[in-house]
Order: sequence, then C-alpha cells, then structure tokens
Amino acid sequence: MQLKLRKPDDWHVHLRDGDALATTVPDCAQSFARAIVMPNLKPPVASLDAARAYRDRILAAVPEGMAFEPLMTLYLTPDLAIEAVREGKASGLIQGVKLYPQGATTNSEAGVASLEGVMPVLEAMAEVGLPLLVHGEVTDRDIDIFDREAIFLERTLGPLMNRLPQLRVILEHITTADSVNFVKAHPSMGATITAHHLIYSRNDMLAGGIRPHLYCLPILKRASHRGALIEAATSGDPQFFLGTDSAPHAIGDKESDCGCAGCYTAPHALSLYASVFDRAGRLDQFEAFASLNGARFYGLPVNTQTVTLIKQPMLIPETRPLGSQQVRLLGAGETLDWSLA
Ligand code: NCD
Ligand code: ZN
Repeated sequence: MQLKLRKPDDWHVHLRDGDALATTVPDCAQSFARAIVMPNLKPPVASLDAARAYRDRILAAVPEGMAFEPLMTLYLTPDLAIEAVREGKASGLIQGVKLYPQGATTNSEAGVASLEGVMPVLEAMAEVGLPLLVHGEVTDRDIDIFDREAIFLERTLGPLMNRLPQLRVILEHITTADSVNFVKAHPSMGATITAHHLIYSRNDMLAGGIRPHLYCLPILKRASHRGALIEAATSGDPQFFLGTDSAPHAIGDKESDCGCAGCYTAPHALSLYASVFDRAGRLDQFEAFASLNGARFYGLPVNTQTVTLIKQPMLIPETRPLGSQQVRLLGAGETLDWSLA
C-alpha cells in the first residue's frame, strides 16, 4: 500500500545552530519542503539581521540537490521594534513572531513577562497581517505543570484575542482538549500538533519508570487529551496542521539530574504521523493536515513536489549526530508501519 501526497511542510521546528545544522537541516529537508524555524537560539533571533544571517547558515547546510525553504521567525522580546515587524513582513523575510512567556521553555529567558509592553508591536502585526506564534503556557511556579496550557488560555490568550480579534494567532504544539476547543472558537486562529502529543500520554513518560526522552514542553497530558488531539488532527479541519516541534538535545542533556525538554522527531516525523492517521482510519485526511492547511493559514502556495509513503515496517534508529554529540530519536528501537519511499 502506498500514499502519495504533496510534499508536507513543518510549521514548527528547532534546527539549532552551528555544527548541529549539518544533520538537523537534511533531516528536516528530507520530508519537508519548508519549515517555520523557531528563533530560540542563544542569543535569540530577535532582529532582521539575525534572521537573515541564520537563514543563510541554514541554507548553507541544505544538501546538494535538495530543495528546502526555511521560513524565518522573530523572537518577541520587550525591545522588538515595530519597524522590524513592518519591514520583516514587507520584505517577505519574516513569516511570524514567536511569543515565549519568559521562563516557559528552552531559551525563553529573553521572552515576555507581560503582554502589556508589547501591545504596540502586536497591534502592528495585526495591521500588516503577520501571525503571532504562541508558546501557550503560564509560568507561575504555583500553577501545576499539567494545567499551565489551560490556564494560559483563560488568563492570557482569551483576553488578548478579545483585545485584538484581527490578530492571526497560531497556538503552537497544543496538548489539551481545552486548546482544541479554544482554537475552534476563534476563526482567526490556527494550531500546530506534534507527532509525540498524538502518540504518547503522560503515562508513557511516567508509569513504570521515568523516560526522559518523552519529556517535552508543553508536557504530555492524560490520554483523554491525546484523544481530542487525534480527533482534531485527523478531522480535516483547516485550523489544525502539522508542526513537529522537533527539538534535539544531546543525550547527556536529557539523561541528567535536570533534563532538557524536547523530542527529536524530524528524521521519521512523516512515518510517525502517518501511523497515527492510519490507526485512526483517516489516511484520507493526512494530506490536508500535513501539506495543505498550514500553507493556507500562512497564505503561502502549496508545494508542487510530492512524497510517497509506503506501508512497510521501519525500524527507528537509536541516534543521530548532533554536532559533536548524539541525539536519541523519539521511539528509538521501535518499529513503525510506514516508511518514506
Ligand atoms: C523546545 C526546545 O528545546 O527548543 N523544547 C520543547 O520541549 N518543545 C522549546 C519549545 O518549543 O518549547
Ligand atoms: Zn518548539
């Protein structure tokens, strides 16, 4: 059995920088024609010059004969200039601005503590039609980590959407039924869904032993939320689209006393997603989720290239190089039903 579809795009990926690009870029480009590249480098990609230079470093890592278009984002800091928003949009260099609540995740220290100070920038984005990409979690230490996404909707995103209903917002890597319902209730919104949140729930991470390679942010939730995500992703609803949030960390940084958050899925992402759609009996909706809905939301043309998936067992390799270190693949050593032809 074969599945031929327009080449997908990854609407949320971490390619990192430096010598890591030698593998993260080909791993992504093999399956995806374009990718929205996250700006949480150290220091963050917070200016047009930084975005242009990062884009050039990514393009330099695209293997000969492969086509890949990195779609750049700006990191929203309290200092981001309105001019950068206008120029970034007008020049076509910037496809979105990423909001990290300060302290929410990897390299978010430079993020935003309160939206009040960045309202003029958000207003300019609404005016020129540049989407806001949101890491949707509150960071208060007294809020339970499993509730941080739902409370963010209530306290932060709901009020923002009321204040700026014309702002186009993508709620990234959603993990709860609350977020599915919230996005559906706001027509100017979209949401990305990762493969790992479609495949695993928190029991997989914590019952019978702690599995650091399943630790990501937002953290895996209970199984009923996973069910809501599968339903949203496979429904064909154009508000939901593929974003791997592939986020490599070296093995030692994950298997540690204070392990980093992030799962590496880029090399086998399409096989992971296809297996989910197959098990749900919705392979007919896979192309919409992977190759059509995101492009439509971003106002970009759909890809003309195609990829073919074959229903043939694929053993997930254990590791990949990450610069001078190694990263462990999500689901290492397990077998998937679908392979990339
Ligand atoms: C991401 C990373 O490592 O950059 N980690 C993660 O768990 N998803 C950051 C992010 O998207 O939250
Ligand atoms: Zn991410």
